[in-house]
Amino acid sequence: MDVTMKRVAPPEAHKIIPRDIDFNITDSSPKYWFDKDPFKTHFFNAFFTTFPPGEDFFVRSVIHYRGQIDDPVLQQEITDFSTQEGHHSRCHQDHLDVLTKQGYTSLERENKLIDGLGKWANKNYPLTSLLSTLALEHFTALLAHQALAESEVFSDPAHEDFSPLFKWHAAEEIEHKAVAYDVYMKVDGRYWPRVIAMAGSTIGLLLLLPIRMTPLLFKDGKLFSWNTWRNGLPFLFGKNGMFVKPWRHYVQFYRRDFHPWDVQDYHLIAEIRDIYEKGELLNIGKKLKVVKS
Ligand SMILES: [Fe+2]
Ligand SMILES: [Fe+2]
Repeated sequence: MDVTMKRVAPPEAHKIIPRDIDFNITDSSPKYWFDKDPFKTHFFNAFFTTFPPGEDFFVRSVIHYRGQIDDPVLQQEITDFSTQEGHHSRCHQDHLDVLTKQGYTSLERENKLIDGLGKWANKNYPLTSLLSTLALEHFTALLAHQALAESEVFSDPAHEDFSPLFKWHAAEEIEHKAVAYDVYMKVDGRYWPRVIAMAGSTIGLLLLLPIRMTPLLFKDGKLFSWNTWRNGLPFLFGKNGMFVKPWRHYVQFYRRDFHPWDVQDYHLIAEIRDIYEKGELLNIGKKLKVVKS
């Protein structure tokens, strides 16, 4: 993994490009769509479906401070970040609607709680909301890095209905990974609040995902199956697991002089950018429809 511990310059010609794309995740998509595995599929079902309320929260958290930003470049980045996250939220809601229709109703109920909590935090604790956003954006950036840098393990095993969604979302998370951080550095920038926010967000995420996964596995009669856990746990916590491999990337956030572009991974999204620019996104997902705005 190309994670550097040294400060490096942001990529040249860096631009955040919102891409409005419709995916075709439907009732006829495979039930166990990631590696034909219940644990891995439900991990991604649980994780991806937090995005609708989660990313709406991120957008509100950042937009709140837009008036305090006088840098026109960062202002434009806030706009593009918000547009990208809006698209992500909508596409993952489409996926959630399919799951709800299939009887996985717990996710939608939990999302109502997350959405209510997020709106309450935005209204009453805007700085804490921004801090949570930049901490969680570090997570999405490092998971996006994994999905693209080690795609044979972390995104290619997804069925073709889902794999373009992985690549598109991962690419845009990398593109906009510094926006919330840069806004925070302009409006506050203190070190300890962001460290505490990251510690809290890490604990929150590690609790939230099993809480969301449990009813999904239970509904399928897979919760108490030894095979479920034997195949699934190493995927997350094994030597090369999704939560273990990016350790060096994760801990960089705790450095005083950290900046998200210290991890120089812009090259990982070159393929997606090229494909999109040529209007050839259909090549990476047979059922993709490109809606260029
Ligand atoms: Fe996103
Ligand atoms: Fe994001």
